[in-house]
Amino acid sequence: MSNTTTHHGLSREDINDAREVAAARSIKSVYVYEAPVRIWHWINAAAITVLAVTGYFIGSPLPTQPGEASANYLMGYIRFAHFAAGYLLAVGLAGRLYWAVVGNHHARELFWVPLFQRAYWKELGGMLKWYAFIAPRPGRYVGHNPLARFAMFFGFFLLTLFMIVTGFALYGEGAQAGSWQERLFGWVIPLFGQSQDVHTWHHLGMWALVCFVILHVYAAIREDIMGRSSVVSTMISGHRTFKD
Ligand code: HEM
Ligand code: HEM
Repeated sequence: MSNTTTHHGLSREDINDAREVAAARSIKSVYVYEAPVRIWHWINAAAITVLAVTGYFIGSPLPTQPGEASANYLMGYIRFAHFAAGYLLAVGLAGRLYWAVVGNHHARELFWVPLFQRAYWKELGGMLKWYAFIAPRPGRYVGHNPLARFAMFFGFFLLTLFMIVTGFALYGEGAQAGSWQERLFGWVIPLFGQSQDVHTWHHLGMWALVCFVILHVYAAIREDIMGRSSVVSTMISGHRTFKD
């Protein structure tokens, strides 16, 4: 802090800051993501993190622990965490689908892509050029940008549905014939061949989802710094602010 204060008790820095604020271009804000979308986003991200870590250990189990079996339930806890997070993921997505119906129009962007609109592809090409360092500026979007919509529909929504369907099919084997899991999803196992095939596809699905998350978090943070509007804070506060 500077000691050079004026008779208002303000430092020169304070006055300079006030001048800069007065001269700055105005910042506009639009409310985009309603609370249920934001809460769902972070719960869903936590569930997927738990599912990927525990799923990895289900596929590559830890060595058997020595000692009394009843005192060592490590793989049991790992599987329990997987199934609990699996239910959370499925119930969360059902809730998110409900919000797409009753929420604002941005709440619907996750579930469809305007593939048959020429303008959409033009905008998507523009975003690709921006990401590839060919275009100097990205477009300005209130909801998801056109490339994000593509990635979120194909790389997240369809993939997550696939993980839920194959996951509950595997769960139905443990819950046994006649359980609701087996009756609703049992048909998936012969579709892929046999149980091990479903395990393999469910496992590959995890790596595809890990790729989505890496690209998604990179894009979110990069756009926040380099792009024309707020990004990460938009998924926290719900507001999109524009820098120009
Ligand atoms: C497992 C991890 C994650 C998954 C599966 C995930 C998935 C998603 C999905 C599906 C959406 C679309 C939301 C909707 O339309 O309802 C979204 C949006 C978003 N996510 Fe994530 N996310 C993850 C982690 C993160 C992290 C760690 C960040 C922050 C660095 C982040 C930042 C954002 C932002 C900012 C948006 C809104 C994008 C926009 O401004 O249009 N996400 N995410
Ligand atoms: C993001 C979503 C998910 C990821 C990343 C994921 C990941 C995995 C992975 C990597 C495995 C090991 C497969 C193997 O190599 O044999 C696995 C197994 C399994 N997952 Fe998931 N999973 C997800 C969602 C679900 C859901 C929604 C359920 C339904 C409750 C589920 C139930 C199961 C079951 C029953 C197994 C087999 C457990 C065993 O054989 O001991 N998963 N998961």
